[in-house]
Amino acid sequence: MSVHAINESYKHKIEIPYGIRLAFELKQKFNIDEPDLNTLINNIHNNPNSKKIMDYIQQDINNHLFLCKDCHLCKEEHHSQKVPGVGPLNSPLVLIGEGPGFDEDKAGKPFVGRAGQLLTTILNKLNVSREKVYITNIVKCRPPNNRQPLADETNKCSKNLELELMFIMPKVIITLGSTPLNYFKPNSRITKSRGKWIFKDNKLIMPTFHPAYILRQKGKNLVKIKWEVWHDFNKAVDKAKELCPEYNFKLHT
Ligand code: URA
Repeated sequence: MSVHAINESYKHKIEIPYGIRLAFELKQKFNIDEPDLNTLINNIHNNPNSKKIMDYIQQDINNHLFLCKDCHLCKEEHHSQKVPGVGPLNSPLVLIGEGPGFDEDKAGKPFVGRAGQLLTTILNKLNVSREKVYITNIVKCRPPNNRQPLADETNKCSKNLELELMFIMPKVIITLGSTPLNYFKPNSRITKSRGKWIFKDNKLIMPTFHPAYILRQKGKNLVKIKWEVWHDFNKAVDKAKELCPEYNFKLHT
């Protein structure tokens, strides 16, 4: 075996898991030391002075994403930039969409187009400020012509979502549309699964329709779908408030 081949194989074997590397950096930079990652994250979440640390972690997660070249989406002609998740890392509630559209690709922020405006309205009606929940997508680069992400793209990009979830440790997740639903519960149909809790990895997941789907409905169907989404959001927000009563979901109270 050549020296190069040995180096390559060792490089793989001694790769330090991301969470351990970051925990080590946090210890060095902020002098925080906890016996395990979960305790460390819990303490950061509950410390009112930890904004600096959370910003550091978010930047680190984003840097990781910006380096990603695992699928072809970031190499496509229509692609202008990656779209990281936004929001406080200590939010007990996370919203997960499919992938950036035209507006999000230009702005570099998730859910800023028409579907995003509808999302903001729904949250506001539930007394929740959009800025107080974490909003992200399963795929961080815009798929061509705003098509649904393919399974291969979702699988490859899910490592970025996993990093976000590892540090947020949300109590409740709302999945918007069938792509994020199928990530958590493969081979599911959104029409059958919406409104029904899924319990996975210590998280409660509430699947509902994508706001863009609401925007495509007309007449009686529009009323029905709107009502269903409203019902699903209500359930999820109520549960997040019940599980995390100390968290303030309003930006200004
Ligand atoms: N649709 C999504 O799924 N995500 C966005 O960020 C915008 C539209």
